[in-house]
Amino acid sequence: LEHDLVLEGRVVTPRGFEDLEVGVDDGKIVEMKHQGLKGARRIRTGRGLTFPGFIDVHVHLREPGWEYKEDFRSGSEAAVHGGVTTVADMPNNRTPATNPTLLMEKRRLADEKALVDVRLYGGVQAGRLADLKEMAPLVAGYKLYLARSTGGAIFPETELRAFFREASQTGLPASLHCEDQTIIERMEAVLSGQRRADLYCDIRPPQAEVSSVRKVIEALRGFGGMRANICHVSTAETLAEVRRARESGLLVECEAALHHIFFNRKAALEDGLLRTNPPLRPESDRRALLEGLKSGLVSFLVTDHAPHTEEEKRSQGLAGVPGLDDYAHIVSWLIREQGVSPDVIARVASSSPAKFLGLDDRGEVAVGKRADLTVVDIHTPVKASRDQVRSKCGWSPYEGMVFPGGARWTIGEGTVLLDDGDLVT
Ligand code: NCD
Ligand code: ZN
Repeated sequence: LEHDLVLEGRVVTPRGFEDLEVGVDDGKIVEMKHQGLKGARRIRTGRGLTFPGFIDVHVHLREPGWEYKEDFRSGSEAAVHGGVTTVADMPNNRTPATNPTLLMEKRRLADEKALVDVRLYGGVQAGRLADLKEMAPLVAGYKLYLARSTGGAIFPETELRAFFREASQTGLPASLHCEDQTIIERMEAVLSGQRRADLYCDIRPPQAEVSSVRKVIEALRGFGGMRANICHVSTAETLAEVRRARESGLLVECEAALHHIFFNRKAALEDGLLRTNPPLRPESDRRALLEGLKSGLVSFLVTDHAPHTEEEKRSQGLAGVPGLDDYAHIVSWLIREQGVSPDVIARVASSSPAKFLGLDDRGEVAVGKRADLTVVDIHTPVKASRDQVRSKCGWSPYEGMVFPGGARWTIGEGTVLLDDGDLVT
């Protein structure tokens, strides 16, 4: 019997590394053996490590409305370049995706244009909790902004308990952007008149995040089945809050974004393009995130892919950095230079995100799962450069940096999307 595709090499499975042949038919993994599989096509992955396709639960692909920054096609090409086969797209579009009509429009565009699987979040507006049930069939979860960021939406802290009460009826999780708008506004007033490159890091201080996270966790008490995800955790104190919340029985997940794990606030001083919400933090926080990743405290490794053009970053100081193109670069750096083991990567970059999004057909290299596979070569150094960037924004925060490796093959539902480093289009 000949399979559509056979992948041969070192596979990261829940039991560790195994040298295996993975047989794929009709977009699914149908057979795994040490040897003897036949395929119409055979990929020998050499020194590459085969992971379950990476799943990024936090991206902003900008369509519809801001297609000059990104669209589903260019954003998904960036994902393929970074080894990401499933993304969950945030609702802060030009017109925020907060109702079924707008979500159906996004669904249509994504289905038509995207190369990877796109899941959607529904945006939650103040006073519109009745929309939650209506959005439920179209979304993987809800998104709440507790402070102003791109898109400008803001959800009042005072309505959090009402939100959790309503959302817990749907069985869907919520992702929360936690920064305390009151603290941000106070800092803006206190620091007004100052001018220095890293001022932004102090206008949105760690305390703003921690304060907001505490309110979210307090509001969650009593809604036992509700899953809440703290977006892009930037500071050690937030991780401590997440740990305490879990110990008290709450279902609290949290994300670490590539840029918060790679850069500290000194980099923000040197490079104005690194402005992001929440901002970059001192080295001790970066280290805490890395430790949190290793210890299991961090649930998801995300990009918070937030493309803006270089021009508008410089002239308007918009917050957000791209990340999808560099996902596998950072993975290679985590493994080779930061002591993160491949099974931790498989957990934070695939199996935990799959569970969170309710996608039990993926997240593991196993017979019966969707053939979403990412082969990362951690032994062939690559330099991140703008001519490799597929994101429409055209730049990378990691420009000029050399990484131990990157994605070599990206396979989405059995289709080879990245072939020996080249995008198949
Ligand atoms: C994001 C964006 O531009 O969409 N910006 C950011 O600084 N992270 C919005 C967000 O996630 O806050
Ligand atoms: Zn975001």
